[in-house]
Parts: sequence; structure tokens; C-alpha cells
Amino acid sequence: MTKIIKYFIFTICLVLTFLVVFQRIQLRAENKQGSNYPLSGKRAGVWNDGQAALWDLNILDHYRLFGSPERARGYKPEQPINFSHVTHVQEKGIECQFCHWNVAKSPYAAIPEVQTCMGCHSIIAGTSEEQKKEINKLKDYSSKGEPIPWEKVHVMPDYVRFNHKRHVKAGVACQSCHGQIPEMETVERVSSMKMGWCIDCHREQASSIDCYVCHK
Ligand code: HEC
Ligand code: HEC
Ligand code: HEC
Ligand code: HEC
Ligand code: HEC
Repeated sequence: MTKIIKYFIFTICLVLTFLVVFQRIQLRAENKQGSNYPLSGKRAGVWNDGQAALWDLNILDHYRLFGSPERARGYKPEQPINFSHVTHVQEKGIECQFCHWNVAKSPYAAIPEVQTCMGCHSIIAGTSEEQKKEINKLKDYSSKGEPIPWEKVHVMPDYVRFNHKRHVKAGVACQSCHGQIPEMETVERVSSMKMGWCIDCHREQASSIDCYVCHK
């Protein structure tokens, strides 16, 4: 009987070790890919690979075994228009805050209004057929006067109080939390954004870890 228990524990340890080693190798490979965004020589990446600790297995997040997929690392919903941050930020050099204009002024980061897009796209029609098709969708929303139904990529539970302004003012870069957005054709959630992840950075940056700071 005790022998069976021993084997059982041994097998569990083996599997856990494998999971940890596997994800480390995977993350290292991801980080080695480097960045071609001109502002950062190396892939600045996600803070601590978006993990709270070694045992906060992002594999669990990644493969969506627990919790809702909307709140897991790797969530990458399809959008109503194939809007690309690569074209707009990396190639055309538009600043984040040109579109997400209130990120330094309020707790929330605005998703730009159709009018903001049309400021350029009433003139810019796109080069390739694919681009023209997507930009025409944008024009349709504009002429109908409807907002574009973007899918939200980062969702916090209701009981969490998050504040963009405080982070931007404190000099925390967008990429520490959102990863290399300028390289994303489709925005993907790259951090676990679990409580441990928030707290780890708050400890490191000597900001508050009082419960009421983040919870209502
Ligand atoms: C030309 C306008 C424009 C610029 C410039 C821009 N964005 Fe965006 N961004 C959008 C639009 C539109 C969406 C919503 C569609 C989507 O998710 O792709 C979005 C979505 C996002 C999201 C996901 C929001 C969610 O749903 O949770 C993040 C994060 C983001 N942008 C960060 C950035 C960062 C960081 C930069 C600068 C490096 C940047 N954006 C520059 C227009 C822009
Ligand atoms: C400052 C000007 C500017 C703004 C603002 C802007 N765009 Fe663009 N957009 C461009 C340029 C330039 C291109 C590339 C066109 C080309 O290569 O012919 C482009 C390309 C596109 C494309 C083609 C696919 C792609 O991404 O390559 C789509 C779709 C698009 N934009 C949607 C949007 C939406 C939606 C918004 C508002 C959130 C927006 N744009 C805001 C300048 C802008
Ligand atoms: C400290 C981490 C952190 C930093 C730094 C950060 N964000 Fe966010 N961002 C988040 C979280 C968490 C959410 C989800 C908020 C929610 O659901 O209430 C989010 C959501 C968003 C959204 C979706 C709209 C919203 O407010 O829910 C956009 C757009 C966005 N961020 C853009 C940016 C841009 C641009 C920057 C840099 C100027 C930035 N973020 C910096 C963590 C961060
Ligand atoms: C990459 C580092 C980093 C991450 C990740 C991070 N924060 Fe912060 N946070 C900071 C810094 C730095 C400040 C600024 C503290 C100050 O203004 O004194 C701050 C401030 C705050 C404040 C305002 C504190 C106050 O005193 O009013 C709140 C609320 C907050 N963070 C919530 C969160 C939540 C929720 C998350 C996770 C979703 C998170 N933070 C993730 C670095 C981080
Ligand atoms: C820096 C921000 C921050 C601080 C400080 C913080 N929390 Fe959280 N907490 C979060 C976030 C973000 C989540 C949501 C995690 C998710 O998406 O699952 C969370 C979730 C929770 C949950 C729900 C269970 C879970 O893990 O999902 C409980 C309970 C909780 N926190 C209690 C506390 C207590 C007690 C304290 C004080 C010791 C505290 N929190 C301090 C950010 C914070």
C-alpha cells in the first residue's frame, strides 16, 4: 500500500517537473525571437513572462484548462475589422496615445472612435485588395453611424479596481503589461494578469499591496 502511494507521489513530481521545464523552454524560445520594433533593441517582453511565480503555471492559462478563456493568457479574439497594430504603429509610427488618447488621463484606456479612424481613412483607401476590403468595412460603420463592435481582449473581474493613469504616470510602459503590441497583427493577451502578477510588480516597485487599493 505505502509503495503505491510512493509511486503516486513520485509520478506527480515527475509530471510537475516536466511541466515547469517545458514551459521555461517554451518561454525562452519566445523571448529569443527578438523584436524588430525600432524603439526596443531587444524583446523587452512581458514582465517576468507574465507570471506570478514558478508555480503559477502559465501552461494552465495557455491551454485554458481552468477559468474562462477571456481571462487567460493567449486570448486572441477575432475582431470585426482586421485592424493591425503592425501597420499603424510599427510601419506608420502612430503613437499609442493618438488612438488610446485618455490612457494617461483616466482609469480606462479608450478604444478610438470611428471618427478618429476616418480622420485618415476618408482619404487613405488602402493598397492591396485585402486592405481595401477591411477599410470598406470601416467606412460602412462610419456611414451607418454605428460604433465598431470590438471584442475586448483584456477583461478584469468586476471586483478589481485597475487604473491606467496611475501606471502611465509612474512610468510603467504599455509593453510591461501588454507585450509587444506593435508587432501584433491581432491583439493577444500575453500576461496572466492574475493577482500574483500584479502584486509581484507592486512589491518590486514599492507600490501599495493593500487589499483595498485593488479591490472595491
Ligand atoms: C490607429 C489607432 C491605434 C494605435 C496607434 C494604437 N492602437 Fe491599440 N487598439 C486600436 C483599436 C482600434 C483597438 C481595438 C481592436 C483590437 O483589439 O485590435 C486596439 C486595441 C488595443 C489593445 C487591446 C484592448 C482590449 O480590448 O483589451 C491594447 C492593449 C492596445 N490596443 C494597446 C496599444 C498600444 C500599447 C499601442 C502603442 C504601441 C497602441 N495600442 C496603438 C487602435 C490603435
Ligand atoms: C494617422 C492615420 C491613420 C489613422 C488614425 C488610422 N489609420 Fe488605418 N491605416 C493608415 C495607413 C497609412 C494604412 C496603410 C494603408 C496602405 O498601406 O495603403 C492603414 C491601414 C488600415 C487597414 C488595412 C489593414 C491593415 O491594418 O493594414 C485597416 C483595416 C485600417 N487601417 C483600419 C483603421 C481603423 C479601424 C482605425 C481607427 C481605429 C484606423 N485605421 C486609424 C492610417 C491610419
Ligand atoms: C500595469 C499594467 C498595464 C499597463 C502599464 C498598461 N495597461 Fe492597458 N490594460 C491593463 C489591464 C489590467 C487592462 C484591463 C482593464 C479592465 O478590464 O478594467 C487593460 C486594458 C487596456 C485597454 C482596453 C480598454 C480598457 O481600459 O479596458 C487598452 C486599449 C489598453 N489597456 C491600452 C494600454 C496602453 C496604450 C498602455 C500604455 C500607455 C497601457 N494599456 C498600459 C494593464 C495595463
Ligand atoms: C509592471 C509593474 C506593475 C504591474 C504588473 C501592476 N502594477 Fe499597479 N502600479 C505599479 C506602479 C509602479 C504603481 C504606481 C504607484 C504610485 O503611484 O505610487 C501602481 C499603482 C497602482 C494603483 C494605484 C495605487 C494607489 O495608491 O492609488 C492601482 C489601483 C494598481 N496599481 C492596480 C494594479 C492591478 C489591479 C494590477 C494587475 C492587474 C497592477 N496594478 C499591476 C506597477 C504595476
Ligand atoms: C495589486 C493589486 C491587488 C492587490 C493589492 C490585492 N489583489 Fe486580490 N486580486 C487582484 C486581481 C487582479 C484579482 C483577479 C485575478 C483573476 O483575474 O483571476 C484578484 C483576485 C482576488 C480574489 C479572488 C480569488 C482569485 O484568486 O481569483 C480574492 C479573494 C482576493 N483577490 C483577495 C485579496 C486580498 C485579501 C488582498 C490583500 C491581502 C488582495 N486581494 C490584494 C489584485 C489585487
